Amino acid sequence: MDLFVVRGGKPLKGRVTVSGSKNAALPIMAAALAAEGTSIIHGVPELMDVATLCELLRTLGAVVHRLPDGALSITVASEEPCVAHYDLVRRMRASVCVLGPLLARRGRVCLSLPGGCNIGDRPIDLHLKGLRALGAQVHVEKGYVIAECRRLVGSKIFLGGPFGSTVTGTCNIMSAAVLAEGITEIEAAACEPEVVDLGNFLIALGAKIDGLGTPFLRIEGVEKLTGAEHRIIPDRIEAATLMIAAAITAGDVELENVRIDHLTAVIEKLQEIGVQIERSIRSNSVTVKAGGSLNAADCIALPYPGLPTDVQAQFMTLLTLSQGMSVVTDKVFPDRFMHAAELVRLGAHIRREGPSAIISGVPELSGACVMASDLRASAALVLAGLAAKGESVIRRIYHLDRGYERLEDKLRQLGGDIQRLNDTADQLTAAAIEPHYVSDVPTQESWLTGPNWLTWKRTRASLRPLAPEGREDQE
Ligand code: UD1
Repeated sequence: MDLFVVRGGKPLKGRVTVSGSKNAALPIMAAALAAEGTSIIHGVPELMDVATLCELLRTLGAVVHRLPDGALSITVASEEPCVAHYDLVRRMRASVCVLGPLLARRGRVCLSLPGGCNIGDRPIDLHLKGLRALGAQVHVEKGYVIAECRRLVGSKIFLGGPFGSTVTGTCNIMSAAVLAEGITEIEAAACEPEVVDLGNFLIALGAKIDGLGTPFLRIEGVEKLTGAEHRIIPDRIEAATLMIAAAITAGDVELENVRIDHLTAVIEKLQEIGVQIERSIRSNSVTVKAGGSLNAADCIALPYPGLPTDVQAQFMTLLTLSQGMSVVTDKVFPDRFMHAAELVRLGAHIRREGPSAIISGVPELSGACVMASDLRASAALVLAGLAAKGESVIRRIYHLDRGYERLEDKLRQLGGDIQRLNDTADQLTAAAIEPHYVSDVPTQESWLTGPNWLTWKRTRASLRPLAPEGREDQE
């Protein structure tokens, strides 16, 4: 398992290019299962989640490979397989995106039911409700969702749930309805840019969809879909993460390959906090500068076009260094606060109050050993490490590898001091842990009486061999 050693305090400066969107690529790759022929998808980032989905698509009869120009080619060679096994689905819950395309095209699908994960309960009841409304027989048996149909039939479907619309649920029902007989009307559809991107891909395959980007979708079913070429939208979450990296290090960074229209809520919030943003719609770029003090702000994560839940942790990190009291609330995943306790280890003042976290800004963070709990929490800890005084060691960064393409290379390109090491005892003693033992540990006499002994005990506890993994992050 790898870890990062981050030495903070260096302002990030320069220019960097944002990768294609993970959350757009995954449902689009899954939807290719519903088409005849070959689909060529440009801009698919090289990530663990993408590799996992490629593996799953292969088990489902697809031939998947990267072309010399980096595009992903997906051809369905056999339509026999219909089982998405536990071993793959448990590694990535976005595997659920194969449900709609497989059912619509093959008439049967057997998908391991994804469980909860580190960011909260993750039911798929709305996905199943939508498929039932399209006429599928759906039941759960031995941990698998089994859905069957002759041909799906268009219907009126309300997809709203207790926490708003569902992103992958909308992807699934839209990908199924495009091959259903007749008209489907989806109300309370998710409006996220990634859903729109999937819709545009389906249209390129021959689907008929109106209302993309609004909560009301009208889909006229077609007999068949044929492979097409498509380019994935830029990753707005990666863009936001890099923007916050620039802001938290008092840097000056230009991001290329951004869709500014997908970042309105993020840009507005950063400006409220005191970060300068220059947008260039013509060149699809944005420049982020920060220097003076940062202001406290209230952040509420909401479905699009609100502030994304996937940048809630990164904003919380920024607010730990903002002057005054901030409140962060997540209306999409109300329990997504595992990063807060780790930020406290770096000196942040954060208190959980029901569905919110209250942050009282501190003048500086100080490097510490921390543990990533999920994908965006890992990014938040890297940001904290870049801003903190001294050295931070961030463990379990395999979460980060799931969803950020070459993040450490990009940060290094901007002048960040970040190093990847293998989490083995010899490397750790040599490069990561020693400074903490040598410089931070109080003397023998002061251990039991001094105020630092508890901190030291915690640091030491975090050096023990990793506990067996519990619930995974599968954002
Ligand atoms: C997607 C994104 C994820 C992002 C999330 C919210 C992908 C691969 N993942 O996840 O990065 O954090 O959107 O923007 O695109 N819910 C139900 N019943 C359901 C489905 C969802 O109650 O059947 C609830 C969820 O528990 C959650 C909320 O609805 O509280 C939103 O979840 P959803 O939009 O479905 O998230 P994902 O699509 O899984």
